[in-house]
Amino acid sequence: MFSEIHNFSLKFNTSKKILVIGDIMLDEYWFGEMERISPEAPVPVLKYISSEFRLGGAANVAKNLTSLGANVSIVGLVGNDVESERLKELLFDSNIDTSGLVVSKKRPTTRKLRLIARKQQVLRVDSEDSNQIDSEELEKVINSLKKQIPDCGAIIVSDYRKGIITKEVIEFLVNSIDNRVCVADSKAKNYLLFKGFTTVAPNLKEVEAIFDRKLMSEEDIVQSGRELLKLLGSKAVHITRGADGISLFTEESTINFPAFSSEVYDVTGAGDTVTAVLTLALMSGFDMIHSTFLANVAAAIVVRKVGTSTTSINEIERYLREEEIRDLYNKIVLKSKKNE
Ligand SMILES: Nc1ncnc2c1ncn2[C@@H]1O[C@H](COP(=O)(O)OP(=O)(O)O)[C@@H](O)[C@H]1O
Ligand SMILES: [Mg+2]
Repeated sequence: MFSEIHNFSLKFNTSKKILVIGDIMLDEYWFGEMERISPEAPVPVLKYISSEFRLGGAANVAKNLTSLGANVSIVGLVGNDVESERLKELLFDSNIDTSGLVVSKKRPTTRKLRLIARKQQVLRVDSEDSNQIDSEELEKVINSLKKQIPDCGAIIVSDYRKGIITKEVIEFLVNSIDNRVCVADSKAKNYLLFKGFTTVAPNLKEVEAIFDRKLMSEEDIVQSGRELLKLLGSKAVHITRGADGISLFTEESTINFPAFSSEVYDVTGAGDTVTAVLTLALMSGFDMIHSTFLANVAAAIVVRKVGTSTTSINEIERYLREEEIRDLYNKIVLKSKKNE
């Protein structure tokens, strides 16, 4: 496996399915110009020019995976509305299997509408019901999981706290781990429920929420990472640290992967890229250190792009050939391999 990165050519497992379960969102953008104040009220008028739809939340994780050639199925709740039709079209266009989608009669599809005037976001309108799913919805979700899980080699939980990832759903997933690579990325405090997952990938704010304490120093971060690893009994913990990269905690070591991007344009969705690449690499047989390295490279790529938050195998391979990244590879990955 190691030699594959060394030759700058990546081979991911595209036959086994990856299941993404979580909060699916429709991101809608209205672009326009804002040049005058309304005569009706003291508010600016956005003169509409065009609009765009994108996959958000768990659907963005799924899209990150299919951009790398992975075989992906998604389980999530959508409403019985036009937004869900849009979402299905986008998922279909991104080669994501939608047979596991659960339609709720009680809640709308989660939609975030952003109004943009000359590249500047001026307003966001959220339509959502972020209450936890009720027993009827839960039954449908579990039934969908029962159908999807058997032929999956990996499971990713992408919880944006919009209601689907309840205690019961996590319990069901924990009982379905078997030999699967299971990775959780959650905005909720409930990380400790993911016992036995391969890894979890909270950001710094989420780690603070888990332990209900401020992380004031590097020492605090290391201590929290190690504690989380112990409490979960997982193979690893990945703390994503924004401009400070990723810290990987395993039983053997703590390794910091610095972020390499100097040109950062758009960090939205970078965490989704990390979970997607990490999971796909682990399922493809890369070890934890190589998988983390690849996830970190992929994150560096997407933060350099405006708007898009996905990458491709070709693009990652191109970056792996860059000197800065090769140096980092020698310094971090090869060195820690020698120490093993
Ligand atoms: N400002 C930044 N500069 C360079 N890399 C970044 C920056 N923000 C995020 N990244 C990269 O994206 C990864 C995930 O971002 P982070 O903000 O930590 O997670 P999340 O999106 O889940 O909150 C980071 O670990 C890092 O590799
Ligand atoms: Mg995250």
